[in-house]
Amino acid sequence: MVKICCIGAGYVGGPTMAMIALKCPDIEVAVVDISVPRIAAWNSEVLPIFEPGLDEVVKACRSRNLFFSTDVEKHVSEAGIVFVSVNTPTKTRGLGAGKAADLTYWESAARMIADVSKSDKIVVEKSTVPVKTAEAIEKILSHNNKGVSFQILSNPEFLAEGTAMEDLKSPDRVLIGGRETPAGRKAVQALKAVYAHWVPEDRILTTNLWSAELSKLAANAFLAQRISSINAMSALCESTGADVAEVAYAIGKDSRIGSRFLNASVGFGGSCFQKDILNLVYICECNGLIDIANYWKQVVQINDYQKSRFVQRVVSSMFNTVSGKKIAVLGFAFKKDTGDTRETPAIDVCNGLLGDKALLSIYDPQVTEQQIRRDLSMNKFDWDHPQHLQPLNLSDSVNLVQVSKDAYEATKNAHGLCILTEWDEFRKLDYQKIYQQMQKPAFVFDGRNVANVVELRKIGFIVYSIGKPLDPWMRDLPAASSF
Ligand code: NAD
Ligand code: UDX
Repeated sequence: MVKICCIGAGYVGGPTMAMIALKCPDIEVAVVDISVPRIAAWNSEVLPIFEPGLDEVVKACRSRNLFFSTDVEKHVSEAGIVFVSVNTPTKTRGLGAGKAADLTYWESAARMIADVSKSDKIVVEKSTVPVKTAEAIEKILSHNNKGVSFQILSNPEFLAEGTAMEDLKSPDRVLIGGRETPAGRKAVQALKAVYAHWVPEDRILTTNLWSAELSKLAANAFLAQRISSINAMSALCESTGADVAEVAYAIGKDSRIGSRFLNASVGFGGSCFQKDILNLVYICECNGLIDIANYWKQVVQINDYQKSRFVQRVVSSMFNTVSGKKIAVLGFAFKKDTGDTRETPAIDVCNGLLGDKALLSIYDPQVTEQQIRRDLSMNKFDWDHPQHLQPLNLSDSVNLVQVSKDAYEATKNAHGLCILTEWDEFRKLDYQKIYQQMQKPAFVFDGRNVANVVELRKIGFIVYSIGKPLDPWMRDLPAASSF
């Protein structure tokens, strides 16, 4: 039986390996991690991440050909193919701080592979890494002097959270980059054979190593750029009376543009877009491409502007202060159908409102109170380190935060309500009931365009919805200031 080991049992390692185990019963898959609680959760009834369809797949394969373990060295040494899917956070200090990828975890995984390997291995970059990382990894691995040879492949992951299992089952493409040598080509074929168990051959693309590494950063940059572009339009729509949903529909009908990924929002979040663009910016700068770096930097700047613009709308609409006012926040996850809060726009929006001393009452169907309090106390970029499982000192402003069990409790006696995640249940709320229990005037600030603006205005709410024609109440108020 071929044996695969994946280092890193996170949002990528867990679901990806579960799908390989499901589709390849002839392969034994071990997912290993240094985090004891995470592995314990993978082996329990309540998995450490919420992802539609994941439970079923894990339950079907666990203990059959899918294993979760903290015995990292044992499983690595036994495997023929080792995936590395560890964190690659943004550096918080030193050279390139705030932009460059911190490869500490990758390097330590590579050193461990070199140390424990007694047989030849294919080492697969599953984490998103800077272009040319494979070269550095090769140098680390080649220091193993036990006559063991390694082939490095780049196999970036394109799954999106919330739809990870569907994305893994029917990927638009699987990308495999390898060395253009006989041994490199043989390794590419070996990995291709794994995916060929269920992915049609014409969807498995093979390239050189650097193209594969760069394609991952490029794909995320293009996707995020689309959101910043429509969000930039949303500000102009509000100033002119155009409706961003109508504009998105009209431009999306052009088959060269396409209709997907054009939803204006309070800003993109998630563990990938900002981190990967900043990484791309740094790589451009290191290659002397300053204008190109500045071009991509704008995608992140517009995203920051969008979040700050939203906070400003809330504060300026509510008589220029939210101090001491209860504001309900519906949705904290970075998108619907996930409990993930990494880089969620809700963190910046909540911190902006807390800066003005608002009293927040937050509800999200999948995010725990503990997670919300941690997120609102954490320094920028600190979330992407395994130490996030360690205790953390909560900041004082968290005392102004209450976490509610549902949307009705959160909105009771609130002056305003902000929708920050597009959970389906927020479309179906009884807004009449919510209006009755709120302070008046009652405000809705919809950062995801899920509410029916016409209906809400009929009920009596003053409504702001991203990129929609402004409520008369807001027309003469200041629109935005930059961060
Ligand atoms: P994650 O934080 O959920 O998981 C990473 C895991 O690696 C953690 O559980 C951590 O404990 C473990 N780890 C770190 N160092 C280790 C070591 N030396 N040995 C064993 N385990 C170790 O992260 P993630 O979201 O799964 O992302 C992993 C990588 O995949 C990142 O590079 C990310 O950019 C990339 N990626 C993420 C997504 C996504 O949607 N989350 C999508 C595509 C690519
Ligand atoms: C992204 C990429 O899509 C995926 O290919 C990559 O592997 C990891 O990063 P993810 O971050 O999980 O996936 O979710 P995605 O659906 O891309 O959404 C990212 C953010 O953009 C979310 O906050 C989402 O709400 C926001 N978004 C998305 C919009 O604001 N508007 C849109 O039209 C689409």
